[in-house]
Amino acid sequence: MADKQVLEQIITKTIDTVGASREEIFKIGEQSRHEFQMLEKELCEVRLKVNDLIEKSDQTDRQARLARNRLVEVSKNFDKFSNDEVRVAYEQANEFQVQLAILRHEEQQLRERRDSIERRIGALRETIERSDTLSGQMSVVYNFLAGDLRQFGEIVEDAKEKQKFGLKIIEAQEEERKRLSREIHDGPAQMMANLLLRSELIERIYNERGIQEALSEIKDLRKMVKLSLGEVRRIIYDLRPMALDDLGLVPTLSKYIKTFAEHTNMKLSFKNVGKEKRIPPQLEVALFRLVQEALQNAYKHANATEVEVKIEITDKKVIILVKDDGQGFDMKEKKEGSFGLIGMKERINMLKGEMKITSKLNVGTTIFIVVPLMND
Ligand SMILES: Nc1ncnc2c1ncn2[C@@H]1O[C@H](COP(=O)(O)OP(=O)(O)O)[C@@H](O)[C@H]1O
Ligand SMILES: [Mg+2]
Repeated sequence: MADKQVLEQIITKTIDTVGASREEIFKIGEQSRHEFQMLEKELCEVRLKVNDLIEKSDQTDRQARLARNRLVEVSKNFDKFSNDEVRVAYEQANEFQVQLAILRHEEQQLRERRDSIERRIGALRETIERSDTLSGQMSVVYNFLAGDLRQFGEIVEDAKEKQKFGLKIIEAQEEERKRLSREIHDGPAQMMANLLLRSELIERIYNERGIQEALSEIKDLRKMVKLSLGEVRRIIYDLRPMALDDLGLVPTLSKYIKTFAEHTNMKLSFKNVGKEKRIPPQLEVALFRLVQEALQNAYKHANATEVEVKIEITDKKVIILVKDDGQGFDMKEKKEGSFGLIGMKERINMLKGEMKITSKLNVGTTIFIVVPLMND
């Protein structure tokens, strides 16, 4: 859980930073757009002014040429013109020349300004495009962080849970082995040690007190052997009922439920409403385990008096119902160290089936299982 929180914090911080950067980029884009518009306006004006100036300087050029021609004429026929006329011709030619030079200079400056505006506009256009692209990309990153990455965090968490679950299964298996070895140690192994002692005793009794007494001891011995045999069979049966492989799910369940009822004093009913046909062996084992766990829960936790088990095998699926009339339980409460129900869910998932548990306090618990049959 701590890891998830750390990841969550990192993501939140990153989201904030990316969000702020996205806004910053957006602002840059807006500013550029604004400057772009201003410059375009100025460019328009400058262009008009340039045109104006060109026109003006063309006109001045014409006038300057005329003035020059006049000057040439005056110069050629110096004697025909008065001094004043000659001076005016000089002055005019000179003035138009100066005016033209000024206009040309102005024009040159305006052209330069125009070129620089155009260059700046080009650069701005690029900035705007870039900021648009960048802000689009930032949005993608932002959405990824806000949506997919969060989900990714959940997936990681899920994988971790699964791993934890895997370890717990191994632990549970080890626990089961311990239980089994204890059971064999306390039960059959103890009995056999006893039998060994008793058989030695019988030898002594025979030697010391005769055949009759020895025979009655042997009778006792036989009872003990029978008991041990029953015990060994029960343990084997708990491990994996051989009938499952030999007879199939329905007869095995039927027998198991009968024995379970005898051991527990609960009233158990078993109904098979579908076909009695063989299904894939892994499925038979899995479904048997599911019913076994459900019954054990009904016995261990529910304090049930009656349990109903129903099975239906069709061509397409297997449906199983286990219903007890016990005390029920709150399914939202998670119990540490309980793997029965989790294991059932995992099994059902692996079989691509569905399990529904409904439980009401003081009314009972119903487990409904559907598993599809793959036709091959
Ligand atoms: N049929 C039931 N009736 C009442 N409580 C149940 C039943 N099945 C399960 N529970 C409750 O759910 C818990 C978890 O069950 P389970 O996962 O099988 O673990 P375990 O049997 O090892 O305790 C039980 O401890 C019990 O409180
Ligand atoms: Mg259980």
